[in-house]
Amino acid sequence: MKTFAASLALVAALSSSVLASPANLEARATATSTGKLPAVSVKGNAFFAGNDRFYIRGVDYQPGGASDAKDPIADVAGCKRDVAYFQKLGVNTIRVYTVDNTANHDECMSMLADAGIYLALDVNTPKYSINRAAPALSYNDVYLQSVFATIDAFSSYSNTLLFFSGNEVINDDSTTACAPYVKAVTRDMRQYIGSRGYRAIPVGYSAADVDSNRLEMAEYMNCGTDAERSDFFAFNDYSWCDPSSFQKSGWDKKVQTYSNYSIPLFLSEFGCNTNTRQFNEIASLYSDEMTAVYSGGLVYEYSEEGSKYGLVKISGDTVDPLTDFNTLKTKLAATKAPTGDGGYLKSGVATKCPAESSTWNVTWGNDLPSIPAPAKKYLTSGAGKGPGLQGAGSQNAGTQSTGTAPANAGQVSSTASASTGAAASLRVPEFSAAPYFCGLVVLASTLLGATLL
Ligand SMILES: *[C@@H]1O[C@H](CO)[C@@H](O)[C@H](O)[C@H]1NC(C)=O
Ligand SMILES: *[C@@H]1O[C@H](CO)[C@@H](O)[C@H](O)[C@H]1NC(C)=O
Repeated sequence: MKTFAASLALVAALSSSVLASPANLEARATATSTGKLPAVSVKGNAFFAGNDRFYIRGVDYQPGGASDAKDPIADVAGCKRDVAYFQKLGVNTIRVYTVDNTANHDECMSMLADAGIYLALDVNTPKYSINRAAPALSYNDVYLQSVFATIDAFSSYSNTLLFFSGNEVINDDSTTACAPYVKAVTRDMRQYIGSRGYRAIPVGYSAADVDSNRLEMAEYMNCGTDAERSDFFAFNDYSWCDPSSFQKSGWDKKVQTYSNYSIPLFLSEFGCNTNTRQFNEIASLYSDEMTAVYSGGLVYEYSEEGSKYGLVKISGDTVDPLTDFNTLKTKLAATKAPTGDGGYLKSGVATKCPAESSTWNVTWGNDLPSIPAPAKKYLTSGAGKGPGLQGAGSQNAGTQSTGTAPANAGQVSSTASASTGAAASLRVPEFSAAPYFCGLVVLASTLLGATLL
């Protein structure tokens, strides 16, 4: 629901580039703020915290909504106000859709950790994101600098659960041509994390609730070489509308469809509100009907923002739990995760890349765009200070990718922490010849941008 893929009007408004000054590292987490919760890692198609299977029991959290982007993890008073309610609700994860990569997050991350809560974080902001109408133009070094700076800001917190590389960029069949760019961003983030010597924080995409290409997108993000594959896949799913059931919602079919999917799968948004919400899907999601294939999910959403999905109403410092809050709380409390490992798939294989079709317009085959050349230096030197939420924006800025990358381009061949000189030897991928473009929209928005210069 919340999406930061911008309109052409916004793209047209953005033109100048923001380059990093590497000196300012304030936004990075301090060494003292780590270690309160066990870091979560991926094994097979599951998440594990230490030796225990980890299920996301979460809620989506962006008070104020997406249009007026504010960083809730930099708002200490807001965190104090809300963390108590996260605990009452019984969640172990919140998803935040946008943060300010220049802000300090130590206090909120520490409060969350003390409450046993992990953060699933989108790395995009309204002005720094892939534009579904102009993916080639918006996949540039200025954009990646912002993404990498966000990784820097959250990498050292042990309760950073995962990063979303994109959210609902593809929202219909005609936008599937953006998939190679989304996958390239995911690859670049994984390579950045490895190259900087950070913990292997999982990176993956959050797909829109679109039936016609959801499976293709899942397959696509898990096909190719290990350097190209995601660490997990998530999708938004509003198909269980109470009164419903595992069968009536079609969730039983989805479990079959994804039964061989070899990376963790979870719901990045759920909670259909067509009728009164009973949250009966909680009992299915955390039962052995689903746990072999799914790793839980995030209810949309904590605060009421005008679309009747809110669990609470926030007024200043006051939180009023709504009926849905109490319903969800009761269902979560009544639903323990299965004991043992939930029947997860211990070792699976890469999926086959989906074929081009009337609903899947990816013409690149197994190839991906190469990382934009000026962004390569961030792998060895770090991203430096991010642009925050006030920067000029990236969607019409910087230097684009100029060709296809070799299949192993995202491999980490040395890390920043290996030794002082080692980073310089990082293998830079070769380019192959032909540039690809993601449709006529690129041309259209380039022209549109140009007319405004
Ligand atoms: C799942 O994968 C295994 C091997 O990777 C294969 O033998 C089996 O047929 C697959 N099952 C389905 C339902 O696709
Ligand atoms: C498919 O994508 C290509 C660019 O990759 C574009 O030229 C073409 O118009 C798209 N086709 C459809 C049917 O959207």
